[in-house]
Amino acid sequence: NEGSLWGGRFADGPAAAMAALSKSTHFDWALAPFDIRASKAHARVLNSAGLLADDDLAGMLAGLDRLAADVADGTFTPAESDEDVHGALERGLIERVGAELGGRLRAGRSRNDQVATLFRMWVRAAMGRVALGLLDVVEALTAQAAAHPDAVMPGKTHLQAAQPVLLAHHLLAHAQPLIRDVDRLGDADRRTAVSPYGSGALAGSSLGLDPAAIAAELGFDGPAENSIDATSARDFAAEAAFVFAMIAVDLSRLSEEVILWSTPEFGYVTLADAWSTGSSIMPQKKNPDVAELTRGKAGRLIGDLTGLLATLKAQPLAYNRDLQEDKEPVFDAVAQLELLLPAITGLVATLEFHEDRMAELAPAGFTLATDIAEWLVRQGVPFRVAHEVAGACVREAEGRGVGLDELDDETFASIDPALTPQVRDVLTVRGSIESRNAHGGTAPEQVQRQLSVLATEVASL
Ligand code: ARG
Repeated sequence: NEGSLWGGRFADGPAAAMAALSKSTHFDWALAPFDIRASKAHARVLNSAGLLADDDLAGMLAGLDRLAADVADGTFTPAESDEDVHGALERGLIERVGAELGGRLRAGRSRNDQVATLFRMWVRAAMGRVALGLLDVVEALTAQAAAHPDAVMPGKTHLQAAQPVLLAHHLLAHAQPLIRDVDRLGDADRRTAVSPYGSGALAGSSLGLDPAAIAAELGFDGPAENSIDATSARDFAAEAAFVFAMIAVDLSRLSEEVILWSTPEFGYVTLADAWSTGSSIMPQKKNPDVAELTRGKAGRLIGDLTGLLATLKAQPLAYNRDLQEDKEPVFDAVAQLELLLPAITGLVATLEFHEDRMAELAPAGFTLATDIAEWLVRQGVPFRVAHEVAGACVREAEGRGVGLDELDDETFASIDPALTPQVRDVLTVRGSIESRNAHGGTAPEQVQRQLSVLATEVASL
């Protein structure tokens, strides 16, 4: 049982199938740089506690630096016999500084507090990268909004024609949730920035090591208050997985619209060649694969979240080996987002909008009916009556196969005497949009204000 982390009590090594099941180096190797950084911090607290002489500390740090370089350039990789990243790196350290010195590092720590700490470090770094990628998508959306300040489009509810809106307003409606997701990542980081190091296997350390010192050195806000909780809690991972899934869901909503908009039936946008694909058989095709893969991967990220929650459910305190299943879903979610975010950014940044087509469709489906009703209310008509009257106008226009603005003055008067020719003021898409000028509305003034508020928010993130 040479080289294993628990030789003393065992006469025999693990069965092959046991070792195969146990093994995690094929995914937890991603923690290696964090493991080495944390080992250096651990060596320093061992030294401060008088458990590692100064020259031993120097030798240990030099060995860890050499190991880090060898890991970075691929000279050192896990061996078949290494169970996990922690065991592999201990072997690597011993190969570099000898068993006598290398064997001192493990004092006062367990793989249980180690892995919880390293996973938190990995998640924090990943959340930072995802936030930056998300801000690029926000930037692409706001740039398109700023580039089309006057373009109008059909606003929809139930995917049915509802009321005309500004294209910029609609694009910013996709930027807002992404800004909230960035905010969620920052919020989750506060709870993730708590260090389990020093918790040992579950009960804490007896060796006088300072958890606050190591927490500070590793960039955490402070050490955990409870060693049992610190080694077993994975709500930080579940929270990150939720935010990652939420991001994918938010991007899938945008993607679904791009897919619809790029059909000839909508005809709102043309996709750039660089961000679409062709068909191997149908020469005319230009497919929105970026948007479709985003929509598809949202399902996968939801699976990552629910899989992790199912793993965590009903585990007794403290560490259980089930927890080794915590990393792959989170790693996978981040890997998918790192593929998606630059592609979605490119797709959005290069969308070519067909303003004439959107303007033509904006009043279709009698989307100005609400404007008639609200105009009547401003003339003192009760809304219940105004709704009826505007509905009668729609019925009349629909029967004649014309738009609301094409009804003549006599027809309006015959539907209701309150409908004077002045009603025509609101029977344009432009007039309708400009009238919705309360905070958060689609009027150009409000949309410009929204753009500048967003810019300030992004700058402060
Ligand atoms: N590889 C394990 C994990 O990912 C850490 C090792 C803890 N194992 C143990 N037997 N206590 O959770």
